[in-house]
Amino acid sequence: MTSLQLNYDQIATEYNQRYPSAQQWERGQALLKLAGEQKAVSVLEVGSGTGYWLTLLSQTTPSVFGMDYSLGMLQQAQKQPAPLMLSRGTAVQLPYQNASFDMLYCVDAIHHFVDHQAFIKEAHRVLKPGGVLAVIGHDPHEEGVSAWYIYTYFDGVYETDKKRYPAGVAVMQWMNEQGFKNISSETVERILNIHDGRKVLDDPFLKHSATSQLALLSDEAYQAGMEKIHLALEQAEAREEAIQFRSEIPVKMFLGYKP
Ligand SMILES: C[S@@+](CC[C@H](N)C(=O)[O-])C[C@H]1O[C@@H](n2cnc3c(N)ncnc32)[C@H](O)[C@@H]1O
Repeated sequence: MTSLQLNYDQIATEYNQRYPSAQQWERGQALLKLAGEQKAVSVLEVGSGTGYWLTLLSQTTPSVFGMDYSLGMLQQAQKQPAPLMLSRGTAVQLPYQNASFDMLYCVDAIHHFVDHQAFIKEAHRVLKPGGVLAVIGHDPHEEGVSAWYIYTYFDGVYETDKKRYPAGVAVMQWMNEQGFKNISSETVERILNIHDGRKVLDDPFLKHSATSQLALLSDEAYQAGMEKIHLALEQAEAREEAIQFRSEIPVKMFLGYKP
């Protein structure tokens, strides 16, 4: 393990391999539903990456803004067919005026922001009264609800995730401290991928650059995890036993409304 911060410029061109076009993501439906309920005209995604979710939301309004720290990710987002209004900046100092947005969200990104509380404070500042903040992602602090084979085979990844990700209860507490109301949490998606035997080797999330969990590993640490998977496969095959690799991960959405 080298660092807890990932340089997204290095993996920007490969990032979209996590979004095979045929797959329907329930978190996307949750975002669309929320935008509809809010009658959101101006929408901002912080840590917008390659603009996958923004492109989806551009179905509902033309005022779709994205902000990201990584130039490489922003360059990928510029290639999206939707006209996205993109800026470079940091989540802890949003480059927007007070009361600019009806809806602000982040997906799989808050664990990268250096100061989670500062982000929530900034979100409150740039939301209009009545605006909503949605924080979407998985919560490795929730015990006993997820099973991800990556955590089993790659040493230290689970422990690192517990350091990187804020607990959901903390996110809701920070929302409360900043003055958000009607704070809630909901499971909006249950990732369930079961890979039988060697089919695991085709899992796009097993590539070194596909997720921050693996991209943070050195080549040696990544190879050590891959060797553990190959060994488990060989041992199961030698015993003529079936082996499965499970990705069973609830995705949460934490909501708070600015009065
Ligand atoms: C896992 S990607 C998620 C991208 C996109 N939200 C998605 O779901 O596909 C995390 C994104 O957060 C961005 N990021 C990391 N730290 C940031 C910060 N301090 N401010 C803004 N964006 C940041 C990264 O550059 C990256 O694009």
